[in-house]
Amino acid sequence: MQLLLAPMEGLLDFALRDTLTRVGQGPGVAGAGAAQAHPSGVDRCVSEFIRITDTLLPARAFIRTMPELLTGGRTLAGVPVRGQLLGSDPTLLAENAARLAELGSHGVDLNFGCPAKVVNRHGGGSALLDDPELVHRIVAAVRRAVPPGVPVSAKMRLGFNDDYRAEDNALAIEAAGASEIVVHARTKAHGYRPPAYWERIADLRREVKLPLVANGEIWTVDDARRAQAASGCTSLMLGRGMVADPGLALAIRAAMAPADAPAAPWQGNAAGSAGIYKEKWHPALDCNNLFATESGVLEGRPGSATAFKGLLDTQLPPHVPWAELRPLLGSFWALVEQRVERRHRAGRLKQWLNLLRRRYPEAQAAFDELRTTNDAQHMEGWLAG
Ligand SMILES: Cc1cc2nc3c(=O)[nH]c(=O)nc-3n(C[C@H](O)[C@H](O)[C@H](O)COP(=O)(O)O)c2cc1C
Repeated sequence: MQLLLAPMEGLLDFALRDTLTRVGQGPGVAGAGAAQAHPSGVDRCVSEFIRITDTLLPARAFIRTMPELLTGGRTLAGVPVRGQLLGSDPTLLAENAARLAELGSHGVDLNFGCPAKVVNRHGGGSALLDDPELVHRIVAAVRRAVPPGVPVSAKMRLGFNDDYRAEDNALAIEAAGASEIVVHARTKAHGYRPPAYWERIADLRREVKLPLVANGEIWTVDDARRAQAASGCTSLMLGRGMVADPGLALAIRAAMAPADAPAAPWQGNAAGSAGIYKEKWHPALDCNNLFATESGVLEGRPGSATAFKGLLDTQLPPHVPWAELRPLLGSFWALVEQRVERRHRAGRLKQWLNLLRRRYPEAQAAFDELRTTNDAQHMEGWLAG
């Protein structure tokens, strides 16, 4: 079983990847018995998308989204990160993939799922799913451009308006030489509305031989079990569920041990020093606009009562105690301070608290206290307290 941390532009970025892969290093964490897995339970992260439009990007553009390239392509806690590219031009994507591989990314992932209008208008993301032949050309060009030892993977939705080309797309990706497909089990038209149609992944498994990873709506250990049963996949990608409950990967491992056999011995990242992440933050696209209406994440902005309509489940105990998590909020903030413009910092912490409050009453209290502030100093005061 592989547990992957999902790419989430504007939410699960470098700072949160770093923080979530530090989980589980303290005492008293549920699931710590999964001895050989990385302490966080996460096998691999995928960066948020790097948009390729009309040029070969300079190294600094890749490093801006994926600072882990400066530390051997791993988070400071040692989990490998795979860079994700988004675009629609096979040649340009191939050139950029070659550069990303050269910079030390643990593979290249291709985005066939982004639902953002601005991206789809330019033929990228989930819009590509209407054209399996182009999907094939993109994957094949990227596969040819990167060294044979560098894995090329794809992340797809089931389709754009409907899912009837899902099999064709999966077959196209396989025939082009990819080594894995993560399937977010919804179409673009479904947005982020539950449910996820995990059973459609089982249909794809009947058609393709390469490893598939199930993704979408895995918030609990029970969801993980049901996703595995319905899709037939052992490997899972966790997105919002892991942001809401940073111990989720560990809990899934603990629940599924001993079937879980981790692949590699884990080491911390020797190059690790948060001090090297000084580069200025320039979001490639404003994710608040990209996902605001569909994600259910950003709807919980201050003043909005609609966050996770009917989904709050604080009655479920978190897998990492608040006392363990609290210092991680501090290290998250330290990274945000280094990389995010001051005026955007408060929003970053509130976004995380917004999801954490699904599990932690303490996060709910913090969210209530901080929801109306956009002042980084106020946040600092709360964190210091
Ligand atoms: C705010 C946000 C940003 C996202 N950004 C990306 C992205 O950059 N690349 C990508 O392939 N998927 C992206 N996704 C989709 C997630 O990776 C994932 O497929 C989706 O959230 C479903 O998984 P979950 O239910 O576990 O969150 C994003 C989702 C959200 C909510």
